Amino acid sequence: MVGRLSPDVRFHPMSTTQPPSNPDTARRSAADPRARYVIRPVEPGRRRRMLGLLLTGKARGGEMAADQFIALAASEPWATDELWAAWRGDEPAAVVLLVPCVGRTAVVFISPAGSADYPDAAGQLLDAVCGRQPPERFSILQTLAEPHQSAEIQVFASAGFEPLAHLVYMERAGGSDDLAALGSVRRPEVAVRTVDPSFTLSRFRPELEGDFARGIERSYEGTLDCPRLLGLRTTDDVIAGHRAVGQFDPDLWWCIHAHGRAEGVVLLNPHPARSCLELVYLGLGPHLRGKRLGRLLMRHALAQAHRRGLGLVQLAVDELNTPAMKLYQELGFQSVSRRLAMIRALNHAANPPSTNTGNG
Ligand SMILES: CC(C)(COP(=O)(O)OP(=O)(O)OC[C@H]1O[C@@H](n2cnc3c(N)ncnc32)[C@H](O)[C@@H]1OP(=O)(O)O)[C@@H](O)C(=O)NCCC(=O)NCCS
Repeated sequence: MVGRLSPDVRFHPMSTTQPPSNPDTARRSAADPRARYVIRPVEPGRRRRMLGLLLTGKARGGEMAADQFIALAASEPWATDELWAAWRGDEPAAVVLLVPCVGRTAVVFISPAGSADYPDAAGQLLDAVCGRQPPERFSILQTLAEPHQSAEIQVFASAGFEPLAHLVYMERAGGSDDLAALGSVRRPEVAVRTVDPSFTLSRFRPELEGDFARGIERSYEGTLDCPRLLGLRTTDDVIAGHRAVGQFDPDLWWCIHAHGRAEGVVLLNPHPARSCLELVYLGLGPHLRGKRLGRLLMRHALAQAHRRGLGLVQLAVDELNTPAMKLYQELGFQSVSRRLAMIRALNHAANPPSTNTGNG
């Protein structure tokens, strides 16, 4: 998964942001025939207006939307200071916001399509901003577009973003009365042994960090969950990203061992403010699949939400991941929205798949 949840939750809490770029180095050379726009970071005094443009597509009058967004961002917290604009004379033609996330990724937003020169301005801006992000800082940049945003999707494609997956956001009531019908799993450690006596479940503790990494890596073998992410991030970055979603609770992170070897994980993080439990990641190694273990672990997730009084369980899944889609649908999860995830990898060559993995 790509650090993803319900459509309103696009970001993870972020790492420290870096100062805005130097305007001179962002400015295109006058000799460049494409130099129709001046690209530069947005100064603090113009941030509300430019965020308004990003959110509403209007160069003026979007300040109220910007204020709401700034307040929401402060509560998460998401940084809103890495903003750049493409200027044509005195008028902004497009705006880009880059929000850094834990785990060396960032989410990139662009102002909506509007003027005739939008594809040109937005494409140049996006390419310039993404092109100057150092690979030491980010391994991938990602965006999540609504499928109907074809102009914006084309702009991302023109700036080197590739489609990763159509993500389906799903949710299900966590505290509902029908849990009993599914068969509540109160002691998953015991229940997994009924699937196979060699299976054990362990809660997260620091000395098991290596096992969680191995369990995650095993689950990537032959995965149908965003397979294009494989090899783009280190497992450490993946785990850091997972921990930063909502609130990390070690009692809700489980590692599955078979014959004493870590072979899978189930990672749940609560979002108390939204009264929901997020399935951050569920992954089983090849030998554990197809045994209904996923169903058992998801019943456990629902029971945990119920026990903690969290009204919803939420998740996101690659729509081509048939086994996962079937599993969630069978358990009563319903699609609430769909997004096209696109990524631009910054350090592809630096992370050979043999040593680094990257879904989740
Ligand atoms: C997705 C996953 C968690 C499902 O867990 P599981 O224990 O293997 O699932 P189940 O055995 O309950 O099978 C679920 C359904 O998918 C079906 N299925 C299994 N493999 C399949 C395949 N390759 N193609 C189509 N359907 C498949 C099963 O037949 C079952 O359907 P049924 O109820 O009609 O029989 C597990 O396969 C996995 O970890 N995969 C790799 C990582 C991953 O994709 N994680 C999900 C992230 S959202």
